[in-house]
Amino acid sequence: MKYQDIIEKMTIEEKAAFLSGKGEWQTRDFERLGIPSIFCSDGPHGIRKQAGAGDHLGLNESVPATCFPTAATIANSWNEELGEELGKTLGEEAMAEGVNVLLGPGLNIKRSPLCGRNFEYFSEDPYLAGKMAASYVKGIQSQGVYACPKHFAVNSQELRRMAMNSVLDERTLREIYLTGFEIAVKEGKAKTIMSAYNEVNGTYANENKHLLTDILRKDWGFDGIVITDWGASNDHALGVAAGSNLEMPNPGLDSARELIAAVESGKISIEDVDARVDELLDAVMTLYVNSQNKANDFDKPAHHAVARKAATESTVLLKNEGSILPLKPGAKVAVIGDFAFVPRYQGAGSSLVNPTKVETISEVIGSYDVQVIGSSRGYSRTGEEDAATRKEALDIASRADIVLFFFGLNEDSESEGMDRTHMRIPQNQINLLQELGQVNKNLVGIISAGSAIEMPWHHYFKAILHCYLNGQAGAGAVMDILTGRVNPSGKLSETIPRRHEDTPAYRYYPSSQRTSEYRESLYVGYRYYDTADIPVLYPFGFGLSYTKFEYDNLTVNEDGVSFDIKNVGEVAGKEVAQLYVSLPGAKVFRPKKELKGFAKVSLEPGESKRVEIAFDDKTFRYWNVKTDKWEVEGGEYQIRIGASSADIRLEGKILKSATTDVLPYSEAELPSYYSGKIQTVEDAEFEKLLGRSIPDGRWSGQLTSNDAICQLYYAKSGLARFVYKRLTAMKKKADESGKPDLNILFIYNMPFRAMAKMTGGAVSMDMVDGIVDLVNGHFFGGLGKIISGYFRNSKLNKQYESRIKK
Ligand code: BGC
Repeated sequence: MKYQDIIEKMTIEEKAAFLSGKGEWQTRDFERLGIPSIFCSDGPHGIRKQAGAGDHLGLNESVPATCFPTAATIANSWNEELGEELGKTLGEEAMAEGVNVLLGPGLNIKRSPLCGRNFEYFSEDPYLAGKMAASYVKGIQSQGVYACPKHFAVNSQELRRMAMNSVLDERTLREIYLTGFEIAVKEGKAKTIMSAYNEVNGTYANENKHLLTDILRKDWGFDGIVITDWGASNDHALGVAAGSNLEMPNPGLDSARELIAAVESGKISIEDVDARVDELLDAVMTLYVNSQNKANDFDKPAHHAVARKAATESTVLLKNEGSILPLKPGAKVAVIGDFAFVPRYQGAGSSLVNPTKVETISEVIGSYDVQVIGSSRGYSRTGEEDAATRKEALDIASRADIVLFFFGLNEDSESEGMDRTHMRIPQNQINLLQELGQVNKNLVGIISAGSAIEMPWHHYFKAILHCYLNGQAGAGAVMDILTGRVNPSGKLSETIPRRHEDTPAYRYYPSSQRTSEYRESLYVGYRYYDTADIPVLYPFGFGLSYTKFEYDNLTVNEDGVSFDIKNVGEVAGKEVAQLYVSLPGAKVFRPKKELKGFAKVSLEPGESKRVEIAFDDKTFRYWNVKTDKWEVEGGEYQIRIGASSADIRLEGKILKSATTDVLPYSEAELPSYYSGKIQTVEDAEFEKLLGRSIPDGRWSGQLTSNDAICQLYYAKSGLARFVYKRLTAMKKKADESGKPDLNILFIYNMPFRAMAKMTGGAVSMDMVDGIVDLVNGHFFGGLGKIISGYFRNSKLNKQYESRIKK
C-alpha cells in the first residue's frame, strides 16, 4: 500500500467515513491526518460548478463556464485531436474553478434513439465512443484534473434508472457495452470512473465485482478510483468489497456505520476497506498537489473560439441538392424559426451549463455576406399553433430566394431523467414546414436535436444541416458553414432510421418491468440495419462536404491498411474515412460489418494523401463465451474502407488463423442472431444466448427498498397510493406545461433507498425500512421503525461526528 503510514494512523471510523462524500460535491477531509477534501463537478460539455446550494439535476445555478457542444455533437467530428483539445480546455476551466474531478465524459451506448440522455453520449458504436472518450480524458487529465467516464455500465435507459436491471449476455456486454470504457481506461488512462445506477445481470453496477474488479481493475489495469453515480450506492459494504471507492453524494454517516458493521460481522474484510482507502488517498493527495498554484481564471474568448471550432467540425450536412449551399454572396434569405432567436444548444439535467455567452443566429447573421429580407419565429417552441406568427413567416418566406428554417427538438423533448416516447419533432413545426414548402421551394433546414429524429419531411428541403446541440458558439458555426467559410466535415455517429418501428430495440425499450432485456444483443444501430437489411434514411458515418473525395490504392497487411484519398473538388475540405471489418460465412454470428478504425484527413483542392489506419487488438476479436476469452475466428476477413457505413469505396482481404477450435454457439439454436433479425426474439432463444434462464422482472408482491417511488401504485397503504396519485398528477401537469420538472422526475424514478443515500444523514436505512413497511400496509410497525430510527440515527450521527472530529 502506498499510503500505509496514513492508513495505520486512521481509526476504522475515519476510514469508513472517508469512503463516502461529505456534501453534494466534496469528499471528507481529516485535518488530523493531513487529508484534504477534493471537489467534483459535472460535466461532460462544460463545468457545472455550484458555488451555492448543490444538486445533481442542474436545478440551482452554477458559475459561468464555456458551454461546448455536447458529446453527441462532438462525436460527429470523428476527430480525436479535437476531442483532446476540448478536454484540455475543459480541464483548464475546471482547474480555474477549483474542480478536481470532472464528471464526464458520458459514453453509454445509444441502444435506442429514445434514451433521454443520448445527447450526452457519443455513439451507437463502442469503438467511436471509446476513441472520442479517450481523447477527452487525455485532454482533461493533462491539466491535472481527473476525468470520470460514466456511467459504468449498460446504462442506456432513463425510466426508473436507479432501479433497473440490465439483462444481457456476456458477449454483448463485452463487445458493445464495455469496449468504449475499455478504450477510455486503457488508452485514455482515466483515473476515475463512475459506476452506474442500474444493476447489471442482477447485481448493482456499484457492487458488481465482475465489472469493477475482474474487468476494470484486473483485465484493463485500471489504477484509479470508482465513484458511485449520485445515489447509486445500494449496499456500501458490498460496493467496497467489489472495488468501489467513494459513495456520492452525501449519505451522512449511516453508510460508514454500515461499513464498520460489515467488517465486524465478517461480511467484508478490513483489507478491502484499506485497499479502497489507499486508492482514494492516492487520488486525493495527487489532486491536491496538482491544484496548488493554479490559475484562477481562464481565457473566455479563447475558449469560446474552441467551442465554435468544435461546433463547425461536428456539423453534419445531410443533403445539398443542386449545391444550394454554400449560400452565394449577397443571397436574399428569410430567417425562420424560434431556434434562430433562442437557440437550442444544450440538454437538460446534470450537464446543464451556465454559459459565458450565447450566440444567436439573429445576432450574428449581420456579419455575413447575405441579405436578410426578414425574420420570424414562425412557430412556438412549446408546441402550440400560432396563426399570426405563421402568417408572418410565410409572408417573409415568399419574398426570399432561400429560406433558412431553424427547427428541431424542444427543450422538453429530451432530458436526463426521462426517455422520449417517440422520435417525432413537434407537429406545429412540421405544419409550418409544409406551408413554407408551398411558398418557397428553396428550403434549407437547420436542425437542433440531441438525438436521432424521424424525418418523414426531409424531401421538403433542398439542404439539411444537422447541428445536434452545438453549444454556446453554435450560431456562428452554423453561419460559417452556410456561407462556406468552413466546409462541413461532420459525419453521423448514429444512424438516422426511417421510423422508430425500424429500430432494433423497438419492442424491448424502455422496459416497463424491473428488468430490461437486451434481446437485440450485438445488433445495435448500423450493426442491425446492415445485417437485417433494414433501409435507413441516413446511415451511420454519413455526411456531405462542399467538395468530393476519391479513394484509391488500398493495401492491406498484418499491421493495418493504407490507401489514397484525393480532394477532387474546388475547395479545401476534410474527409472521415472509415475502416469496417466483416467475416463472410462466419461460424460465430456477427454483424455484417463493424467499425474498427477511422481517420480524418484535411486536403486542399487537388491534393492527395496516403492514409494509414493501424489494426489493433480489437480489429478481429470476438468474445467467446465458452473459452471466456477474446478469440479470433479463422477465415478470410473483408476489409472495407468507406466514406460511410453504406458507401464502401475500397475493399481488400486478409487471412487470419483461429485462436481456438471451441465454437461458442450452434446456429440451429440461435436463428435470429445468425440472421440479425432480432426484433422479436422468443424467450427460449434469448435464454440460449444468455446461457441461463431469464430473470423474472415482474413485481413480486411486496415493495422493497429498491423499488422506485413510481411503483407506489402497487402499495397496500392507501396513504402511499394517495402520494403516488399526487406525484403522478404533479408530473403530468409539469409534462403538459412543456417543461418537465426534473425534481419530480427524479423522485418518481428513484428507489426508496435513495432517501438514505442523498439526504446528508437525515434519513437512515433503518428509517427507509420503516417507510417500506408502511407502504406495504404495516402502518404502525412502519411508523414505529421510522420514529425510533430517527432518534437512533440522530444519536449515532452525533456520536460518530464527535469521534471523527478530533
Ligand atoms: C447523473 C450523473 C451526474 C451526477 C451528478 C446524476 O444524476 O446521472 O451523470 O454526474 O448526477 O450531478
